[in-house]
Amino acid sequence: MNIVILAAGQGKRMKSALPKVLQTLAGKPLLQHVLSTALSLQGKQVKTGPIVVVGHGAADVKEFLALASKEDPSYNKVLTALQAEQKGTGHALLQALPKLDVQAPTLVLYGDVPLTSKKTLAKLAKLADGVHGQDSALALLTQNFANPTGYGRIVRDADGSVREIVEEKDATPAQKRIPEINTGIMVLPTNALKKWLKALRANNAQGEYYLTDVIAMAVKEGVPIRTTQADDEFEVIGVNSREQLASLERVHQLQIAKQLMDDGVSLADPIRIDVRGTLECGTDVFIDVGCVFEGCVSLDSGTKLGPYCFIRNSVIGQNVTIHAFSHVDGAKVGKQSLIGPYARLRPGADLANDVHIGNFVEVKNSKIAANSKANHLSYVGDSIVGSRVNIGAGTITCNYDGVNKHQTIIEDDVFIGSDTQLVAPVRVGRGATLGAGTTLTKDAPANQLTVSRTKQISLQWQRPVKAEKKVAIKKTVTKKSAKGKQ
Ligand code: UD1
Ligand code: CA
Repeated sequence: MNIVILAAGQGKRMKSALPKVLQTLAGKPLLQHVLSTALSLQGKQVKTGPIVVVGHGAADVKEFLALASKEDPSYNKVLTALQAEQKGTGHALLQALPKLDVQAPTLVLYGDVPLTSKKTLAKLAKLADGVHGQDSALALLTQNFANPTGYGRIVRDADGSVREIVEEKDATPAQKRIPEINTGIMVLPTNALKKWLKALRANNAQGEYYLTDVIAMAVKEGVPIRTTQADDEFEVIGVNSREQLASLERVHQLQIAKQLMDDGVSLADPIRIDVRGTLECGTDVFIDVGCVFEGCVSLDSGTKLGPYCFIRNSVIGQNVTIHAFSHVDGAKVGKQSLIGPYARLRPGADLANDVHIGNFVEVKNSKIAANSKANHLSYVGDSIVGSRVNIGAGTITCNYDGVNKHQTIIEDDVFIGSDTQLVAPVRVGRGATLGAGTTLTKDAPANQLTVSRTKQISLQWQRPVKAEKKVAIKKTVTKKSAKGKQ
């Protein structure tokens, strides 16, 4: 089957610099949702993939396709056809004609209708098939809307057969009352389509070449028109405004949440989770409210997330607890570890098992071995930390000299007192202890106490007394009393 995705429109109502089909739903461009459904529908054996009709923002759309094919080779099959001027849906489809296989039927999709299911499209394609010796038909996906305003209406004869599609702007008052609308998604016999598209005229209210006008042509030629509907209304909803985009986002997030629960994940509230990418979970994972996932995230069995955590491109091991308000990006967390609340793991944070990273601790590009702890207010950057290390509150690795980054190495069983600065490059030997407040500028030997502090002294001393502001007070009083006497 040929698949053409119409995506040349501007999407004026989005009021955006971005072409509409590149606006994101669940972290992926609208067009990507349509393409991944289209690709899965065609199957691997099809050599020519979906054809995207580009126009407005064509360069951006092509750039997206090039990037996407680097991540997913199946996108290499996707072709584009340029519609330099947007003269209507019929004119758009015309641009893809030379790329179509005339032997196979053509499915028309819209780049801004992201949630049509594969099941619905397969049903539509089957309807167009010449089943049981019947002729192949033109299959339309329609929907009954309580408020059909703005859509093309399906006009039927008394016997129920489809006669034509009339656009809102060309419809009579009686036609405007028809609740059955054209979703725009249809399967057409390609050979006939070729002829019909060339016969289209733009003599209508919008002066456009309407794809919908081919329906009346098909009827005239005796091509059967069959219709079917999607199970859910959201499958055929297009995105024209940011409000529609936001409401489809919630619909789609709820789909994702239901799938997670079906797979054995506990969600505190399925309407308060956002997955903008892929989230893989083991069994008995618990996710509290307000968590946001981006990119590829995996949470192994038994892991628990507190409220309002943000996790991007990270691998979290078994039975990890991430407390509220933690920010985890490009990190690996070993099993049984405790993170947060208010922890920040940045790209390259690689924690082994049973590591504790507490409140207001930031870890970047650092390996921390098993059973080590940094529980309060620390920065660990560009470091290698051994096992059973205790990093005291307020400890900072000074990894940046203003120009270059340097490494800090902390060997096994080190104890670092609070408020220590480790000025990198520097190494703390195995079993060493650093006294609180140390500014370490040279390597600390193993098993010794290293401390850099001025000696504590005590002096006889008089604390300053606050000077009285007698004059100022008097002035205000005089002013006030003077006013009062008037
Ligand atoms: C179209 C249908 C209407 C249907 C509605 C469903 C026609 C004439 N009308 O109307 O019956 O109810 O969709 O949403 O087909 N596009 C191009 N090039 C163009 C014009 C449009 O690529 O020159 C693309 C748009 O990017 C969009 C799709 O086609 O993805 C639909 O275009 P739009 O202008 O939104 O069509 P409607 O007027 O809403
Ligand atoms: Ca539209």
